[in-house]
Amino acid sequence: MKATLVTDGVYRLSANVDNILFEGMWPVPAGVAINSYIVKGEKCALIDGVCGWDGVPETLLAQFGEMGLSVDDIDYVILNHLEPDHSGWLDAFKEIRRGFAIVTSERAKPLLEAFYGISDNIRLVKSGDTLDLGNGRVLAFEEIPNVHWPETMATYDTRSKTLFPCDAFGSFGSVADDAPYDDTLQEGQIRFFEREMERYFANIVTTFSVATQKAIEKTKALDVRIIAPGHGIVWRRDPGRVIDTYTRLAGYAKGPARAEVAVLWGSMYGMTALGVQPVVEAVESQGVRTRVHRIPETSISYVLDSVLQCSGVVLGMPTYENKMFPPMAAVLDEIGRKKIANRRAFRFGSYGWSGGAQKELAEIDERLRMKWDYLEPVEFKGRPTGDDIALLRQRGVELARSVRRWALGTES
Ligand code: FEO
Repeated sequence: MKATLVTDGVYRLSANVDNILFEGMWPVPAGVAINSYIVKGEKCALIDGVCGWDGVPETLLAQFGEMGLSVDDIDYVILNHLEPDHSGWLDAFKEIRRGFAIVTSERAKPLLEAFYGISDNIRLVKSGDTLDLGNGRVLAFEEIPNVHWPETMATYDTRSKTLFPCDAFGSFGSVADDAPYDDTLQEGQIRFFEREMERYFANIVTTFSVATQKAIEKTKALDVRIIAPGHGIVWRRDPGRVIDTYTRLAGYAKGPARAEVAVLWGSMYGMTALGVQPVVEAVESQGVRTRVHRIPETSISYVLDSVLQCSGVVLGMPTYENKMFPPMAAVLDEIGRKKIANRRAFRFGSYGWSGGAQKELAEIDERLRMKWDYLEPVEFKGRPTGDDIALLRQRGVELARSVRRWALGTES
């Protein structure tokens, strides 16, 4: 990767990472960019880090050279967020550069010690504090806790009006060396990052949607001309676009979301599967788009993305050992942990000698305070009959109409 100029005195350094599971669990088939920034006044600040997944900062150091800088030029290391995708290079960096000060939030202090054994040369800042780099370059700090770790803060360059919010406003997706800015991308390429942003949000940020809404409000109170996140592209032409996208996604957690229906289904021997297509056809007959995922074949990463985006959810699964099909129970548990609440939903499925899914479904909903609103379920013994299929179609239509009214705000 190459260092590039964001705006006068501000540089972006970055590394694309692929062949990993992000946070050890989320697939990134299109990779993910990890961004760092250098802000130059009389003194020089490095904001967050960029490193290989093994924590080695060679990538970072090579990009210093491209800017005519050396590690000895770094006076401040600003840590907006302590998660090791941004801070994992610190151990190696402090071996080659001594005398720099770390600038971070109060809540980051114990994490800094726990992760890296660092307790000296730390300047703790809170919302409203500033750091004067000289030459008219003053950085201001704003705490944005729980986006998505408790210590998170954003740094704001008052001169260029650039916001460095680390994970907030980020996305999955590798970024090309020659086009890291929204003003250097075609609309279709920006849409790619917005799609990757939706899944990134669903996987990493959704649980903290309320905190994210507060962070967005703080962002809106600033005169932000450029948003330079820790992942993905830099929004230089239209920062309002990424603020709007995050506002929309944060609102989806409590619903309503889009006027769409996620259909999650699993089947052991094809009996429950016979009900899927009729339900999908019925939903789509009402002009409501579906996103269909087989469980457990589909990664939970993509399931979460769809459920966050959809106001309606269909769950199709058989009974297994007198309970819910276990992979579906695991998926629902994860959806609940992500605090995706208030969905219009419908469950159907096959049972052999007894049901049992309903009791477990109610338990998960109650325990995780999901507050999903379910239509009456359709269960059939063994293979669905013609009457069962007709009932499934009826429920599909009913759900689609309910979802559309709710999502479009036309309910009386
Ligand atoms: Fe990109 Fe929460 O670290």
